[in-house]
Amino acid sequence: MANPSLLILSGDGIGPEVMAEVKKVIAWLDAKRGITFDVSEDLVGGCAYDRHGTPLHDDTMAKAQAVDAVLLGAVGGPKYDSLDFSVKPERGLLRLRKEMDLYANLRPAQCFDALADFSSLKKEVVAGLDIMIVRELTSGVYFGEPRGIFTEGNERVGINTQRYTESEIARVARSAFELARRRGNKVCSMEKANVMESGILWRQVVQEVHDKEYPDVQLSHMYADAGAMQLTRNPKQFDVIVTDNLFGDLLSDLAAMLTGSLGMLPSASLGAPMENGRPKALYEPVHGSAPDIAGQGKANPIACILSFAMALRYSFDLGDEATRLEKAVEKVLADGVRTPDLMGPAGGTPVNTAQMGDAIVAALDASL
Ligand code: NAD
Ligand code: IPM
Ligand code: MN
Repeated sequence: MANPSLLILSGDGIGPEVMAEVKKVIAWLDAKRGITFDVSEDLVGGCAYDRHGTPLHDDTMAKAQAVDAVLLGAVGGPKYDSLDFSVKPERGLLRLRKEMDLYANLRPAQCFDALADFSSLKKEVVAGLDIMIVRELTSGVYFGEPRGIFTEGNERVGINTQRYTESEIARVARSAFELARRRGNKVCSMEKANVMESGILWRQVVQEVHDKEYPDVQLSHMYADAGAMQLTRNPKQFDVIVTDNLFGDLLSDLAAMLTGSLGMLPSASLGAPMENGRPKALYEPVHGSAPDIAGQGKANPIACILSFAMALRYSFDLGDEATRLEKAVEKVLADGVRTPDLMGPAGGTPVNTAQMGDAIVAALDASL
């Protein structure tokens, strides 16, 4: 049988730096576990624009459609800020998500014990936290028409449209309910049904899918602003949160800080099952290209490494290896190995990106 295939798109800024550490894990799986991936690499974002004049070449898009999973680092950076909107690095990522139809974006936020002290919230509020945000990723205000900057009378007007169809809401709701059944069996759906018609429809459809197909799962609804408040007040009340594209973007950055650092949060973007039963998939850290620390060896590679762990679990049926990798990360953190973003007020000597990757590989070795 052919080896499982993986397309690596490292992207810009710290993307290639954190991806270099994932490559060490891939090499370790090959050498020590006999698990070999067919790895290919290509460009996305600003680096693709520099080479091709577009943030995602059609050939790269075609490759992404053909592989078992895509692993992405990060895109964007100040160098590209003044580019025309249509060729900005972020458009490359949005095109991948849209054309691969990756509608369910899973953003887990787990607080490792070793980092509970380091959260900006009190230890007892975050210790043991394990929530899953399911963000709708291919519709809503990110993609709705009409959109653009127009002239109305003697001034400009910027327009984006929040639009959700019933089927778009129903399919991401199903993803959330399925996940909940394998976790704490609770879903909280967040929208603003008090001010938005799309929010009213969202709430109705989620409730209908629940009543017809998942009556065993505990479902609640919350306005997204109150949800943000509850996420900081008492995040452990949540198990799975399902929400739209924009609210999910905001709430997942918020949830990242509950865990200590944006450098810790992985994500999986999943589409409908392919012929082999596995979903189309792209895995990426939640963080961006971090231009403020790029090129300095300061980036935390854990979010990217944990994104690869999600790939092992969701795309390659290698749940045991995923757990091994997650445990290796946990061990390294428990041992006090810290990149600069994880240094608490107590201080200490941080390691660099490559040393963190090496420590995780050493912990993998120790697990055998
Ligand atoms: P960012 O996530 O890049 O950085 C926010 C802050 O978190 C910075 O201080 C950064 O140093 C820190 N940080 C992020 N990742 C880190 C890591 N792994 N280790 C240590 N510290 C880390 O967000 P931003 O500054 O708002 O955006 C920068 C660029 O990245 C923009 O062009 C934005 O559009 C893009 N972006 C891309 C993605 C993506 O590719 N998925 C996601 C978010 C932002
Ligand atoms: C994310 C990012 C992206 C988003 C950008 C870079 C397009 O912030 O993945 O969270 O807004 O979805
Ligand atoms: Mn974001």
